[in-house]
Amino acid sequence: MLSAKRKKIGYLVIKLENSGTFYSRDLLRLGMKLCGESVDLKFTYRGGKKNGPASEYYINLLKPCDIEKIKTIASDAFRRSYLYRCGFSKMREIDRYHATWVENLSKDKDVHIFIAKENNKAIGFLALKINKIGRYGRIILIAVHKKYRGRGAGSALVHRCIEWGNKKIDSIFVKTQKDNRNAIILYKKMGFKLVGTDKVFCKKISGR
Ligand SMILES: CC(C)(COP(=O)(O)OP(=O)(O)OC[C@H]1O[C@@H](n2cnc3c(N)ncnc32)[C@H](O)[C@@H]1OP(=O)(O)O)[C@@H](O)C(=O)NCCC(=O)NCCS
Repeated sequence: MLSAKRKKIGYLVIKLENSGTFYSRDLLRLGMKLCGESVDLKFTYRGGKKNGPASEYYINLLKPCDIEKIKTIASDAFRRSYLYRCGFSKMREIDRYHATWVENLSKDKDVHIFIAKENNKAIGFLALKINKIGRYGRIILIAVHKKYRGRGAGSALVHRCIEWGNKKIDSIFVKTQKDNRNAIILYKKMGFKLVGTDKVFCKKISGR
């Protein structure tokens, strides 16, 4: 914290992974605010075909014409993110950041973006980043447009992603907020198991 002050850093963000209450207490005592708690889940391929739910959704890989639509979906889908609670940016800027993030992911050769469509319109997406050396994937972002949630598109996206990774990778990781009940139910239903937790703390150090 002293070093951050010396360097006139605006905000200090500390992420604790799989830690007990000990360090959290210390950070709170130093005036840091708990801005987010996440869980990390892992799906392991165990051979054989994974049974998933029958889906009415047509899932395909991203086409250039889908990008603007998924940027719009991403812009207000992740409001549980710690970024909104740290206070270092306005909501609109963080919304824009998420839209830009998904656009950047679409240019990354190690990322595969799956699209759920209804009436030929993109209504949800899932971005999976592959680590070829480690033979694992990570779901970086998944979102379904607000109007279409709870109708099976999220399950269909995760199911398609698992199916795609079969024989290419050994496992898939995903991180989500601890209070994101729907997402956690969805991942557990698809066979993901809890493997870790993390907490994000933030403190304003020097003002602008
Ligand atoms: C998480 C998310 C992608 C799920 O997409 P979805 O299309 O709503 O998912 P599904 O319709 O396939 O539902 C999956 C499970 O979640 C639960 N669920 C979904 N919507 C629900 C709702 N409105 N109420 C209660 N449970 C719900 C159900 O258990 C459901 O399984 P079931 O239908 O077999 O009971 C979607 O809610 C979303 O975009 N959220 C905002 C972005 C986000 O939080 N992303 C994850 C973190 S990166």
